Amino acid sequence: METKIYKLDHHAIDHEIIKKAAAIIREGELAAFPTETVYGLGADALRPEAAKKIYAAKGRPSDNPLIVHIAKWQDLLYIAKDVPKEAAKLAKAFWPGPLTMIVMKNEKVPYETTGGMDTVAVRMPSHPVALELIRESGCLIAAPSANASGRPSPTLAEHVAEDLSGRIPIILDGGEVGIGIESTIIDLTEETPLILRPGYITQEMLEEVIGNVRIDPGIIAEDSVIKPKAPGMKYRHYAPKADLKIVDGTEYAVISMINALTKEQQEQNKKVGVIGTDETAALYRGDLILSVGSREDEDEIARHMYRILREFDESGVDVIFSESFSTPRIGQAIMNRLLKAAGHQVLMVQQNNGGRKIV
Ligand code: TXA
Ligand code: MG
Repeated sequence: METKIYKLDHHAIDHEIIKKAAAIIREGELAAFPTETVYGLGADALRPEAAKKIYAAKGRPSDNPLIVHIAKWQDLLYIAKDVPKEAAKLAKAFWPGPLTMIVMKNEKVPYETTGGMDTVAVRMPSHPVALELIRESGCLIAAPSANASGRPSPTLAEHVAEDLSGRIPIILDGGEVGIGIESTIIDLTEETPLILRPGYITQEMLEEVIGNVRIDPGIIAEDSVIKPKAPGMKYRHYAPKADLKIVDGTEYAVISMINALTKEQQEQNKKVGVIGTDETAALYRGDLILSVGSREDEDEIARHMYRILREFDESGVDVIFSESFSTPRIGQAIMNRLLKAAGHQVLMVQQNNGGRKIV
């Protein structure tokens, strides 16, 4: 199948292109499109055969449910069985935007879309291309991230093409996404609302609107210890081809430790990659050093993380050492993704003795 790629300007969206993609969705086929978080791979959410095509194109396990993307609040009422009071409050505060809510589904939503679950994940994206596509298609659009299963989520249309070219008919290219990590998922079917996946909308922001919110312990623990509730979070989502280790501690200690480890690896003829920041990149000695952005701008770090990980995959390095990014606001979301990519390998370093221990 030939994959057609169309460039779209956010500020002057070419409606003819949106119409083409919308017609494809209505026919039960797939279309990739930008959202404010990552690119999505869309299909008509209420047609079982359409949802199945998503799993086939991505190589995704069929027990991993999809997020249903909507363009108006009424669409949630149309597919939900009970709508908890928190849903309206959260929608008012954060929709359209990077928040996914889990509610009980009604019979209109096929089990192919929810991976066999009686709940459904719903999100109203804020990206103008995504909203126009949903509206024009007249469908509710099921869309996981538009990567091949096991690869980082796409933050550029080129990433989608890399993974899915020849497998889908159309990609809408809206340039680089704004946020760069997937939406926060909150489960409203629990007695106390539960965050299943951290994202740009933080626990504090949610608590300001609906009071007490818990975080699924399964997303912080190592995969094997406690099972996360979102089926997708249990997979070792993405592991870079190289062995990735995170080094955590004070800035000076981290830089010296990464340089010492780099030297050790290079002496064994290993090619070493380093993930640093604008402030530190010049201080490293690895074979490929990439800055993920400035420490002053955590939004930039989130936006670039997946692209940087893809670049390392192409570079042929054997080992990657990364700084740690437990920044105050979306740091939890960034570290959640990075820890998964690293298989939870973290070296803690202390400045005083330079000693290291694995935690
Ligand atoms: O930002 C995003 O949410 C992006 C863009 C495209 O909207 N989409 C996205 O979808 O990240 P995906 O399929 O890559 O991740 C969906 C996550 C998976 O971990 C899945 O297991 C979880 O949501 N999920 C979906 N429905 C669920 C449900 N009913 N119960 C629990 N977890 C659910
Ligand atoms: Mg995904």
